[in-house]
Amino acid sequence: MEVVIAPAERLAVLAADAVEKVVRSRPEAVLGLATGSSPLRVYDELARRHREDGLSFAGVKAFMLDEYVGLPAEHPERYRNVIETEIASRVDFAEGAVQGPDGNAADLVAACAAYEESIAAAGGVDLQILGIGTDGHIAFNEPGSSLASRTRIKTLTAQTREDNARFFGDDVDQVPRHCLTQGLATIMSARHLVLLATGKGKAEAVHQLVEGPISALWPATIMQMHPHATVLVDDAAASRLQLGDYYRQTYASKPDWQGL
Ligand code: F6R
Repeated sequence: MEVVIAPAERLAVLAADAVEKVVRSRPEAVLGLATGSSPLRVYDELARRHREDGLSFAGVKAFMLDEYVGLPAEHPERYRNVIETEIASRVDFAEGAVQGPDGNAADLVAACAAYEESIAAAGGVDLQILGIGTDGHIAFNEPGSSLASRTRIKTLTAQTREDNARFFGDDVDQVPRHCLTQGLATIMSARHLVLLATGKGKAEAVHQLVEGPISALWPATIMQMHPHATVLVDDAAASRLQLGDYYRQTYASKPDWQGL
């Protein structure tokens, strides 16, 4: 696991560099997209590179991590709509190239199985962008999630619903209780994991993710088992890392050509 500690703007550039490298080397690449605040600067940077540098996503497929259950199709916080606003509509994905689990399906269990099949049929995810919840979730794999889980229905914790109330007019009652989410094993199948975390509120989750024992209590800790995982954090999110100085020194002496 590589840990990079840098200002948020720099982290976004590094993540966008990694995405650009994958997309330029394989124009039919498969990306994994997260929602929430953490990847927004990365999406801004990718949209800029599309606009100004001709970075094209025309042959790229993308899979979202998760979706709320039961939000009306036109609801602005439905993750399908959030992804459309934040990135899909700002670049040149082909029609239907961005997929997400269907939180309004009549048969949610079948929708989860179909979603797993779609990811597999696309050849798996080359680069997965991730955020982390204050309770250590990745996608919506809340504490207690099976480390071997696949896409399924989950119940959001009270903590996550409170954290996300800011997207719902600060009214926690408007935040759905259920979601469909890629499982931890689904995420672990991606070839490169790039997680972004900023702010003090993420410090304990980041410490557990990088340095804690692997446990379903902190689901993101499963990333320690991934052969190519990159954790991009600002000073505040890195503030509880026991080996923070070591990660800083290691990254400072890394040759530029190596990338992430
Ligand atoms: C969203 C997702 C979640 C978020 C996490 C952090 O698709 O998968 O795991 O990444 O809840 O959210 P933010 O970035 O809003 O702090």
